[in-house]
Amino acid sequence: MNNRIDQEVVPLRTLYSGEKIPCMGLGTFGSDKYGADMVSESVYGAIKYGYRLIDCAAVYQNEDRIGMVLQRLFAEKEVERKELFITSKVWNDMHGEGQVLKSCQKSLMDLRLDYLDLYFVHWPFPNYHAPGCSGDSRNPDSRPFSVEEFMGVWRQCEELVEKGLVRYIGMSNMTIPKLEAVLPLCRIQPAALEMELHPSFQQPELFDYARKHDILPIGYCPIGSPSRPERDRTAEDVSDTQLPAVVQAAKAHQVHPAVICLKWAVQRGQVPIPFSVKEAQYIANLKCAAEDPLTAEEMEAIRGEDKNCRLVKGQVFLWEGAEGWEDLWDPAGVIVTK
Ligand SMILES: NC(=O)c1ccc[n+]([C@@H]2O[C@H](COP(=O)([O-])OP(=O)(O)OC[C@H]3O[C@@H](n4cnc5c(N)ncnc54)[C@H](OP(=O)(O)O)[C@@H]3O)[C@@H](O)[C@H]2O)c1
Repeated sequence: MNNRIDQEVVPLRTLYSGEKIPCMGLGTFGSDKYGADMVSESVYGAIKYGYRLIDCAAVYQNEDRIGMVLQRLFAEKEVERKELFITSKVWNDMHGEGQVLKSCQKSLMDLRLDYLDLYFVHWPFPNYHAPGCSGDSRNPDSRPFSVEEFMGVWRQCEELVEKGLVRYIGMSNMTIPKLEAVLPLCRIQPAALEMELHPSFQQPELFDYARKHDILPIGYCPIGSPSRPERDRTAEDVSDTQLPAVVQAAKAHQVHPAVICLKWAVQRGQVPIPFSVKEAQYIANLKCAAEDPLTAEEMEAIRGEDKNCRLVKGQVFLWEGAEGWEDLWDPAGVIVTK
């Protein structure tokens, strides 16, 4: 591939420590549609092109394959470990005492790395569902959020930093009430908050809250996850690439509407982590962050497209007695504990 982006032109974002990281990363969740080989080959091609941030997770079941391509890239001297920013996440079935260390060690072994740059608590509950499960599957052991249980997980994450296994720790799928409850108890603050963010789901309050607390918002499903699993689809869902302001900007800039979603995300200040196994797509995605920005009017028009349309509702994590998926997200502004 003679097509490589110059690192100098990729905008950067700043973590609370002052360290800079790229304004965009590559997602690696194959959505039960793309297998580990395809996803890891896209990681290989994307890093060769110039991606430096890769968003991994144990539950995506492809870290071992990604580890193989990372080794290949190091052996070929394409990139050095210290140039990359690799994230992973502890899955919900590994929250118990001593389990977080085991989970992190497994991810390190699979990814063939000595350390992770950022390690997330994937979901703030120990509620487990098997990869690839159907949308109506429920685990009878599921329970609501508990500050005490969550802090048990967070303390284990803090120990990973102290042991030098991870450089930063982060939270994912949180709400303001949950953050309000746990942030004062953290010895090491979260560096990032991974949250669903796309034009039809902008979460302005949570986004502002994170930034105010020096927590970098990392936006998942930045294109509205058009290939998401069936369990995450409902009739009410909006397609981000069909929103009028997105389509209009795509025409004006002569790019795919997906690319407009990413330009908007980068210019707003979140770090989108789009997924793609298609070379032309992942190249276009990173490239768009470095050229031809949206105008202030286009940014404002896209801001007006927010429909509060959450795609990853998380219903498979519901506990007995919960009224609906909304309970996972503290709809009344207080932690749902019933
Ligand atoms: N923390 C969490 O709980 C959580 C939850 C969900 C996701 N994530 C992370 O976020 C990442 C991204 O989310 P996602 O994969 O669900 O959704 P996404 O990035 O919004 O959508 C990915 C899909 O968009 C299409 N696409 C990508 N680039 C395109 C382009 N330039 N032109 C046209 N279409 C394009 C592709 O569809 P086709 O395949 O049809 O071409 C691709 O499969 C995941 O991979 C994962 O790393 C984290």
